[in-house]
Amino acid sequence: MITEADKEIVKSTVPLLRENAKEIASTFYRDLFKAHPALLNTFNQTNMKIGAQPLALANTIYLAAENIDHLDVLMPWIYTIGHKHRALMVKPIHYRIVGHFLLNAIAKTLDDKATPEVLNAWSVAYSTIASVFIDVEKELYADLGEDGQENFISLKIVKKELIANETITALALERCDGRAMCPYLAGQYLTLRVQKEGLFYNRHYSLTHPFNSKTYNVAIKQEKDEQPLGVVSNEITENFFEGDTILASLPAGNFVLVNDASHYLFIAGGIGITALLAMIKDLKNKGKSDLVTLIYYVSRKGQGAFIEEIQSLLDKDQYIPLDKSNPLTKDLLQSKLTSNTQVYMCGSPSFLDTARTYLSECNHPESQVYFETFQPRLSLLKN
Ligand code: HEM
Repeated sequence: MITEADKEIVKSTVPLLRENAKEIASTFYRDLFKAHPALLNTFNQTNMKIGAQPLALANTIYLAAENIDHLDVLMPWIYTIGHKHRALMVKPIHYRIVGHFLLNAIAKTLDDKATPEVLNAWSVAYSTIASVFIDVEKELYADLGEDGQENFISLKIVKKELIANETITALALERCDGRAMCPYLAGQYLTLRVQKEGLFYNRHYSLTHPFNSKTYNVAIKQEKDEQPLGVVSNEITENFFEGDTILASLPAGNFVLVNDASHYLFIAGGIGITALLAMIKDLKNKGKSDLVTLIYYVSRKGQGAFIEEIQSLLDKDQYIPLDKSNPLTKDLLQSKLTSNTQVYMCGSPSFLDTARTYLSECNHPESQVYFETFQPRLSLLKN
């Protein structure tokens, strides 16, 4: 049990952790991977290279420390992270390992400021936070029923198709073990795993269709010019073909629709259209597509994916295509918002940052804004 004295110590050392967060995180990961190289198969090495994962960890540490008295305010974040952890098969045993190396990294970085009292308080705080995560994830594994016992399963690629001027690969995937497809909600993602040079790499891809009990459908954008290259996207695009099998964990994610909204505003940036497309189709299936407005930004005009499908789902006045010469503006957003609008956004961190700034300038309630990005979400928090 965390005592009042521990809480005081944890809160009073937050500034020190803020100052040293990057060093703590990098020491932590260096020592963790040295002692447990198998964990390199779990962590997304592309996110590690661009610094998003270490930053996400650091931001979570600040947040948890600041809210140590009432961790319940963090529950929405904890569920988002819990879904990612479940998709990557993080188990309670891993929390003990992570806790050990985190405490060691704090001790090494803070040196003589890491007194036994400070380390003890952080150890208790970590256990408190970890047990909340473990409980959430236990619930998520249990939701999968018998499938919750499985590790990554094999899926067969039944269709592979180049779309959007050949810049995006659409895959339809079927279970190989003959068991029923695990149901999911529009907006959730599938985690695919490939092996390269002796390591596994994992990546989450939004499902592009609502659940149909036959196939899981995803769309993959190959980032040819970006550094570091997304290993999984490149590997699948270039080296996986129809008839091949690929490892996957079952659908996860808490970016899902609220029921009973009177207006849904979807804001997609580039490949971010995938998750939103599934949501729009889901609303169409439920006879609610007239409640939808879609703003879809692509950098170059005519480069968007699924355009014909979008045009068949929505009327002209419900679909607003944007590009570099006609970008997203605060005025456009303002003109599409009502006080009841539920806003769903998906895109790159910088695109979401811009859209969130405009939404806040429009005084749209944050509780009605939901977003999904392709990088660890807490790396988006500003210090
Ligand atoms: C992702 C925090 C424990 C493995 C994340 C993210 C956060 C986080 C904030 C980013 C989520 C996002 O994408 O939005 C924490 C905290 C933990 C904890 C606070 C302890 C209380 C663990 C453990 C493991 C683990 C025990 C397993 C060894 C991962 C992996 C990712 C992740 C593999 C995804 C990385 C990626 O794909 O980029 N975690 N985590 N975490 N966490 Fe944890």
